[in-house]
Amino acid sequence: MKKTLVLEVDSQEPEIEKIWIAADFIKKGGLVAFPTETVYGLGADALNTRAIVALFEAKKRPLDNPPIVHVGNPKDVYRLVKEVPPKAERLMETFWPGPLTLIFQRSEIVPDVTVAGLDTIAIRMPRHNVALALIRESGCPIAAPSANLAGKPSPTLAKHVLDDLNGRIDAILDAGPTHIGVESTVLDMTVDPPQVLRPGGTPYEVLKKVLGKVELNPIAIAEKALPIEKARSPGVKHKHYAPNADVIVVEGEVSAITRKVKVLTEFYMQKGYIVGVLATDETVEHYKAGVVKSLGSRSDFTVIAKNLFRLLREFDLEGVDVIIAEGIPAEGLGLAVMNRLRKASGYNIVKASGH
Ligand code: TXA
Ligand code: MG
Repeated sequence: MKKTLVLEVDSQEPEIEKIWIAADFIKKGGLVAFPTETVYGLGADALNTRAIVALFEAKKRPLDNPPIVHVGNPKDVYRLVKEVPPKAERLMETFWPGPLTLIFQRSEIVPDVTVAGLDTIAIRMPRHNVALALIRESGCPIAAPSANLAGKPSPTLAKHVLDDLNGRIDAILDAGPTHIGVESTVLDMTVDPPQVLRPGGTPYEVLKKVLGKVELNPIAIAEKALPIEKARSPGVKHKHYAPNADVIVVEGEVSAITRKVKVLTEFYMQKGYIVGVLATDETVEHYKAGVVKSLGSRSDFTVIAKNLFRLLREFDLEGVDVIIAEGIPAEGLGLAVMNRLRKASGYNIVKASGH
């Protein structure tokens, strides 16, 4: 056990003395959790093999699932990769800093552990002043997976990071809740047309407007577990985003969903389970039984994305055994939300229809 230092910082204008303390840990090969615009990341010097090994250990993350490398400036990409395709350059200009991770062929200076032995590397420039200050003051690219124990929902509050990693990391920069709430979109630029490996904060529809042609990897839109060989992104074969409670996702038209959620809630309550209902503002009044929480309005997926991981964690703290979650349309940010919910459920999806 280490003592984890909590450094509260202003999210817009972080106090430089606190950033220096955090950067010092990174320079010495330590581990620092920090906010990005998507979720909190657990950072280590991307070019320091020992620091990266410690990073995997702290998260209990399988060594075959590489983290995303965060840069403070698009220029920093060039020494980490073999080449930057013109399409990637356009995306970097349009979307960085922001929730878009690009996959490139990696260069020789990147240690094997950082990329889990792959010949490719995932890179993004985050849109958060604390993250950018930490990268700048550390003077190195920072590898940072989401700052949760492997398999758990990603942290959107510093408290979530401490619940999972207190005593396992050197420090955390606490700048309050993260803005987007789901992770970055992972886009493979080593193939043409580029392919979305993980839907996230930059919607597919938005990428399509800029690029014309973009593909969705089958795993990104999967409604059931796919064979591993279809999974181009190494992380996708591991268990993900799962609270301790079992999750069941109910998909379909809103009125059919509401009826089905009620039936399932009653069924599990009769079996003696503590049931959590993950509802939306439009439906929440219909549910009179169980621990009911609303993700937000179906007319604003940005709010739903922001609340998702926090509510999954809250159900766990309240001792819920099974979570019945409403599905939303898999469009815009809704695709990222549904990808996380379906995975959290282990693809335990119920289709609701009829009366
Ligand atoms: O928003 C985010 O992306 C957050 C914040 C902290 O930046 N980070 C994050 O990292 O979600 P992580 O490690 O939890 O997820 C990284 C994803 C995994 O699905 C991993 O498999 C994939 O990126 N990935 C990493 N390197 C890759 C590579 N060379 N090829 C394909 N996928 C890769
Ligand atoms: Mg993660």
